[in-house]
Amino acid sequence: MNRTISLPDQDTSRFHGMNILSVKQFSRQDLSMIFDVARNIRTMVEREGSLDVLKGKLLANLFYEPSTRTSSSFAAAIQRLGGNVIQINNVTFSSVSKGEELRDTIRTMGSYADAIVLRHPEEGSADIAAAVSEKPIINAGDGIGEHPTQALLDIFTIVEELDTIDGLTVTMLGDLKYGRTVHSLAKLLALYDVKLYFVAPDLLRAPPALVDELIANGMSPCKHVDLDSIMSETDVLYVTRVQRERFVDQSIYEKVKRSYVLNVDTMDSAKDRMVVMHPLPRVDEISREVDYDPRAAYFRQMEYGMYVRMALLALVLGKV
Ligand code: NCD
Repeated sequence: MNRTISLPDQDTSRFHGMNILSVKQFSRQDLSMIFDVARNIRTMVEREGSLDVLKGKLLANLFYEPSTRTSSSFAAAIQRLGGNVIQINNVTFSSVSKGEELRDTIRTMGSYADAIVLRHPEEGSADIAAAVSEKPIINAGDGIGEHPTQALLDIFTIVEELDTIDGLTVTMLGDLKYGRTVHSLAKLLALYDVKLYFVAPDLLRAPPALVDELIANGMSPCKHVDLDSIMSETDVLYVTRVQRERFVDQSIYEKVKRSYVLNVDTMDSAKDRMVVMHPLPRVDEISREVDYDPRAAYFRQMEYGMYVRMALLALVLGKV
């Protein structure tokens, strides 16, 4: 079996040992390199199931917030590459409940593992971890800040499903204020020639700092309250859950939680070739009948995610 993945004529050394903290670290060229690796890996996984590229490597998965997909896809990714995982999903059973500080927990995990995947409720926590860690930190969501690996897999999904990104109209729907996947994806889309619509209730509009940053990067996101009027132009509809856990006042959550529900009637006015995406978990924002529409890509999106995370681990751990 292969111990490395080769990418002829491409210099991947800048990824070796890299912390993955924000999408701002990546250029278009980086993305196309990551996606080339992800495609190679997919072919190898389809042929062999598991590889031994990361044999002997150990990943620490340190999750201070709930997770199904991100945590299991990183666990699947390292194991399908021949490595192993230390899984801490419930920090209340770890020394965190004894009052241990994040920095000390990171140093601990770094003495055992070769890289650390961190999800934490506080924005900026991944940077704090990276500042003390001798091993690469991969930000798997820092509060309402960023979720860079999700954005990478979101872009990969768009390219694989629609063959391109340039020239597309992307509509982001739902909780644009607290949804970190939206924040990371919007910033990454600024690398491409994309028309961006933001559709959200007034209380959940995208943070002004994000809008300013997008404008500074040459984008001009258009705000809408009404989805129906732009559905027929949309190539990618990116639906998000209202992030209940971020509301200080739950009565406001109750007010906005069902602001948008995508159903088959709305899908009737959409293009034949478009995709509906969602980082998941879904609550009520996409009705279940939409799952049977071939344009619903949110379940395929998860599998793309595993290949992207495999590619990132192989790159960061120096095996590409
Ligand atoms: C997202 C997250 O955690 O930010 N989930 C994920 O990683 N796929 C989205 C969400 O929780 O709504």
